[in-house]
Amino acid sequence: MATTSPITIGTRSITSLGHELETDEHSFGWLQDSSAILNNPEALQKQMNKDGYLYIRNFFPREIILDARKALLETLDKKGIFEPDHDLNDGILKEGVSPTLEPDAWKNQPLLNRVVFGPEVKEFYTAFLGGTIRHFDNIWLRTMGLGRGSAPHCDIVYMGRGTHRLYTAWIPYGDVPLEVGGLIVLEKSHLQADRFRRYLETDVDTYCENYPERNAEKNRAGLNYSLGALSTNPRSLRQKFGGRWLTSEFSPGDLLTFRMDTIHASIDNTTQSVRISTDTRYQRSDEPIDERWIGKDPIGHGPKARRGLIC
Ligand SMILES: [Fe+2]
Repeated sequence: MATTSPITIGTRSITSLGHELETDEHSFGWLQDSSAILNNPEALQKQMNKDGYLYIRNFFPREIILDARKALLETLDKKGIFEPDHDLNDGILKEGVSPTLEPDAWKNQPLLNRVVFGPEVKEFYTAFLGGTIRHFDNIWLRTMGLGRGSAPHCDIVYMGRGTHRLYTAWIPYGDVPLEVGGLIVLEKSHLQADRFRRYLETDVDTYCENYPERNAEKNRAGLNYSLGALSTNPRSLRQKFGGRWLTSEFSPGDLLTFRMDTIHASIDNTTQSVRISTDTRYQRSDEPIDERWIGKDPIGHGPKARRGLIC
């Protein structure tokens, strides 16, 4: 198994949501590569329970990731957002543009679907979970330009209506050096879940029927996602919980998978290069599934997903 080497940042500053992260060895480090135990489900389970994540370098054949990337860049290119003097494959955005795709753009990307629902992933989670698996049909496709990353959160607050033995796969489509900003995991945060239990019991699509004024924000459609943040300051959050923010300089083919109660966020993209990633979810098929994320047109968050509670 690869060891965690000291992180070398040089003079670069790393920010998340505009907050500069501390990069000393007690505050910041590399994700541990578990590719050496890829074929040992028992060891993978142990590692997941210990660390809250598994990072597997070169998990996918590199070419299937690059093929999916190319197709996505071609889709984005139709919007005229890339610098014409650069190779399209570099994904260099014109100044001031945002590489936004329609929310259901993932449906028209067969090469992307091939990656996230293909045989490699299926075989991996079947062995890891020890039985037949199924996935959420929704694919969270992210295309990020210059700007802020995602706020620290746990995925359970967005998808906890089925089994909690559910795992996220985060997959980068291209090289993601630190300045392009990949995913960061707060080290062993899942082992402190009791400290943020009330947050973990939240469902962003619920509201208090008897206190409508408390939910003024929630009642406005579209705000639900931002309500799932655990904090807006990744730096102070780490100081509160301890541990290090862990990341990698990701390469095409890498897989990062983690638990529903693992705190994660992302680093800001300080370049003009588009960062492309997906997150998808996997569970055992004999366990209940969150109805918001399945079917041809998953209802997702929003009016159809709302559930009233007596608070
Ligand atoms: Fe997430």
